Amino acid sequence: MFAVHLVSFFFSKLQEDPTKKVDRFLYAMRLHDDQLKDISARFQAEMKKGLSSESNAAAAVKMLPTHVRSTPDGTEKGQFLALDLGGSKFKVLQVKVREGMGIKRGGVEMEERTYPIPKELLIGKGTELFGHVSESLKDFLHQRNISLEKKHPLAFTFSFPCEQTALDQGFLLDWGKNYRPRGLQGKDVVQTLREAIDRTGGLDVEVLAMVNDTVATMMTCGFDDEYCEVGLIIGTGTNACYMEELRHIDLVEGDEGRMCVNTEWGGFGDDDSLNDYITEFDRDVDAASNNPGKQIFEKMISGMYLGELVRLVVLKMAKLGLLFDGRVSDALRTKGKITTAHVAAMEEYKNGLKNTKDILTELDLNPTSDDCIAVQHVSTIVSFRSSNLAAAGLAAILSRIKQNRNLRSLRITVGVDGTVYKTHPQYPKRLHKVVRRLLPECHVRFVLSDSGSSKGAALVSAVAQRLASQRRQVDETLAPFRLSQEQLQLVKARMRAGLEAGLKSKGPSTIKMLPSFVYRTPDGTEKGKYLALDLGGTNFRALLVNFKKGLQHNARLYHKIYTIPQEIMQGTGEEGTLVSWTKGYKATDCEGHDVVSLLREAIKRRNEFDLDIVAVVNDTVGTMMSCAYEDPQCEIGLIAGTGTNVCYMEELKNIKKTEHKFGKTEKGEKEEDMVEGTEGEKNEGDAEIPKMCINTEWGGLGDDGSLDDIITPYDVEVRSILQQLGLNSTCDDSIIVKEVCGAVSRRAAQLCGAGMAAVVEKIRENRGLDHLNITVGVDGALYKLHPHFAGVLQETARILAPQCNVTFLPSEEGSGKGAALITAVARQKHD
Ligand code: G6P
Ligand code: BGC
Repeated sequence: MFAVHLVSFFFSKLQEDPTKKVDRFLYAMRLHDDQLKDISARFQAEMKKGLSSESNAAAAVKMLPTHVRSTPDGTEKGQFLALDLGGSKFKVLQVKVREGMGIKRGGVEMEERTYPIPKELLIGKGTELFGHVSESLKDFLHQRNISLEKKHPLAFTFSFPCEQTALDQGFLLDWGKNYRPRGLQGKDVVQTLREAIDRTGGLDVEVLAMVNDTVATMMTCGFDDEYCEVGLIIGTGTNACYMEELRHIDLVEGDEGRMCVNTEWGGFGDDDSLNDYITEFDRDVDAASNNPGKQIFEKMISGMYLGELVRLVVLKMAKLGLLFDGRVSDALRTKGKITTAHVAAMEEYKNGLKNTKDILTELDLNPTSDDCIAVQHVSTIVSFRSSNLAAAGLAAILSRIKQNRNLRSLRITVGVDGTVYKTHPQYPKRLHKVVRRLLPECHVRFVLSDSGSSKGAALVSAVAQRLASQRRQVDETLAPFRLSQEQLQLVKARMRAGLEAGLKSKGPSTIKMLPSFVYRTPDGTEKGKYLALDLGGTNFRALLVNFKKGLQHNARLYHKIYTIPQEIMQGTGEEGTLVSWTKGYKATDCEGHDVVSLLREAIKRRNEFDLDIVAVVNDTVGTMMSCAYEDPQCEIGLIAGTGTNVCYMEELKNIKKTEHKFGKTEKGEKEEDMVEGTEGEKNEGDAEIPKMCINTEWGGLGDDGSLDDIITPYDVEVRSILQQLGLNSTCDDSIIVKEVCGAVSRRAAQLCGAGMAAVVEKIRENRGLDHLNITVGVDGALYKLHPHFAGVLQETARILAPQCNVTFLPSEEGSGKGAALITAVARQKHD
C-alpha cells in the first residue's frame, strides 16, 4: 500500500503545477475571508483603543486627529504653494483653486516639480532635510517667476505620523519608510519648516496647514465627489484616514460634527495583535528594517517591503531546492534586489512570465519555465495578501462609519493614491473585489487621485482660510454676548439700584418689587389639604396637596398638567390685578384686573363647584415656599424658564412702596402676628426682623435703557428669526449654531447670576452680616434642563457675591406646593 502512495506522489511531483508547491509553501499567506473578517474585527478594536483617551497612549493604531473638520464644499478658492514630502517623490507645487458655481464644482490648476532628496539627507540632521525642502521651494518660485515679495499661503503634505493640535501645528511621532533624519522627533514639524524657510530667506510664505498624505488624498478626491470621506495610500508606505464623529474622538474637545482621523494603520500589529498572521518572512523583513518591531501591518502591505518579501520567499524556496534546483545567487541573497516594481512586472497579464524570467536572469539565476511560474505565483500571493490585508483594514473603517451613522447600507467613496495601487496591474481590482465581498451591503466607489495629494492639501488650506475668516466673523458677531466681569459687576450694581428704587417708588419702576404679603416661610406646622393652580410656566397645573403636621418634607401631592391652547393664551381674559402679561400670554381684559375675581367669576360661570380662593402667588414665591418647606434657610425663589424672575424675603422697614403698614388682613388680623414661629437654623439675629417676600419682577431691568450698553442688535430681533430657520445645515453650520446658542445661553446665565448676586448682597447688608448663608429655591426648564445654565449662574453669583454662600435647591414639585403652603400658613391663623 505504502509503495502505491510513494509512486503516485512522485508521479504527481513530476506532473505537479508549480503553483501548487508555492501554495503549500506560502499557505500562511493565503488568507481566506474568515481570516480577513477576523483581522478586520481586530482592526476595529484597535481603532476604538486609539480613539479613547484611556487607551490611546498604548494603542498601536494611533488614530491621530487631523483638525480637518469637513471635506470640500466647492466654496474653496485661492492660490497656494504646496509641498509634498514623504512619498516616493518630493514635490513642490503651485495650486490654483477656482470657486465652484452652484452645483458645478470649481476647477483646480496645478504646476509641479519633483526635487530629488539626496540619500544622506534621509539619515542626516532633520533641519538640513527641511533646509533642502525650503531651498527647493525657493528654486521653484524662481523657475516659475513667481514673485518672492508676495505673501504666499502654503499647504504642506507630510506623510509621517504627527500629533496635531491644530491644522498648522503637528509634533512628529516617528519617521518611517526610508526616512530616518535625526533631531526632529517630538518637534513641531510646521515650526521646523517655518524656521527653515526663514533661514533660506527671501521668501514670504505663510504655512497654513499641514496634512498627512491620506488626508490630502481624501480632500483631492472629495473636491469632485462629495461622498469621498476616506483617504487610502498604498505606496512606499500605507495608511488610511476617514471622517470620524467628533464625539468619538476623546483627544479633541467638542462633540458636534466630524473630524478626519489619520489612522496610521501601518502600526497595526505592533502590539503583537497580528502575531498569528505573521510569517517567518515578515519577521525577517522586520528584523532587517530600519525600525524593527514597528509598522508591522505596513511591512505586510506596502511597496517598500513587497519586493523584499518576494525575494526572501524565493531565496528560502531556492535553498530548500524547491526552485532553481536549489541554486542560489549572491544577487538573490542581496537585500532589495527584488523591488515592488519587479513584483508588479512579474504579475503583468501578458508579459508577466517573460518579465519574471528577465528579472530572475538578472539575479544570475537560470530559471526554468516552472521556476518562473512558481516565482510569479510567489509575487501573486505576496501582493494578493497585501491587497487582502488593505481590504480588511478598509472594511473595518467603512463598517465603523456605517455604525456611526446607524445606516443599514453605506454609499461612500475612497480616494486612493500610491505607486503600488497606481502601478501594480491587478492590485486595484483585487482590493475593490475583496472590500465589496467583505461588505456586500455597502456601495463603495474607489477614485484614484490622479494629481497627487497637493490639490487636497491646498483645499485644506483653502478650508482653513474659510474657517479662519468664518471664525473671525463668528467672534465679531458673538463678542457683544461675551460679558466681562466688569460688565457683570455693572449689571449687579444696576440690579441693586433697581431693587432699591422699586422698593421706594410708589409709581411704576422698571423692577416692580411687588409685595407678596407672604411674611414668613413654612415651619413644618402646616397641615391640611389644599388645591393649587399653577399658571404661567410652560404648562398649566392643577394640584391637590395634603400636608400632615410635623411630617415636614413629606407632603402628599397629586397633580395634573394641562397645556394651554394658543387661542386661550391670546383669547379673552375672563379667566388679582394683573400688571402685564409676559411669556406669550396676551389674553384680553386682564391687565389691570384682579385675577382672583376673574377666577372667581369663571368658577361662578361654571356653577359646578365652589372654591375658597385664599391666595394668589407668583411662581417665584411658590417656588421659594416649597423649597423652604425642605430647607428653612431658603429665602429666595428663582425662576429661569420660559420667563425669569426672583423673589426674596425683604425687611418690612425697607418696603416703602405700599401704604402698607402692618395693616389688617382681609379677615382683620394684625399682620405682624404672621411672622413669628419660623424654625430651623438661620443666620443669627434675623428671625425677629419682620419681613415680607418681595416679587421683584426683575425681568424689567433695562426697560429704562439701563442695559443699553449690554443689549445687542440681536436682542432686539431674535424670536422671529429662529422660527423662520428650517435650514439644512452643514457640520460647520451646526458647529457655529451651537456656538451661538452657547454664547446666548451663557450670557443669560451670567446675567441671572449677576442679578442673584445683587439680591443676596442686599439681604446680607440688610442684616449687617459679614457672611450670609442662604438657599435659593429654583425652578424653570432653562435652569433644570440646559446643560450649562445652572453651573454658569452659580459660578457668576459666587464670584460677584463672595461674602455669600448661596445654595441652589431645585424645586421638585414646582411652585404649586409652595402656593398651597402659603394657603396653609394663611389658613393656620383662622384655626
Ligand atoms: C502621491 C501623493 C503623496 C503620497 C504618495 C504616496 O504621490 O502626492 O502625497 O505620499 O502618493 O505614494 P508613494 O508610492 O509615492 O509613496
Ligand atoms: C506613514 C503615514 C503615511 C503612509 C503613506 C506611512 O509610513 O506613517 O503617515 O500616510 O506611510 O505614505
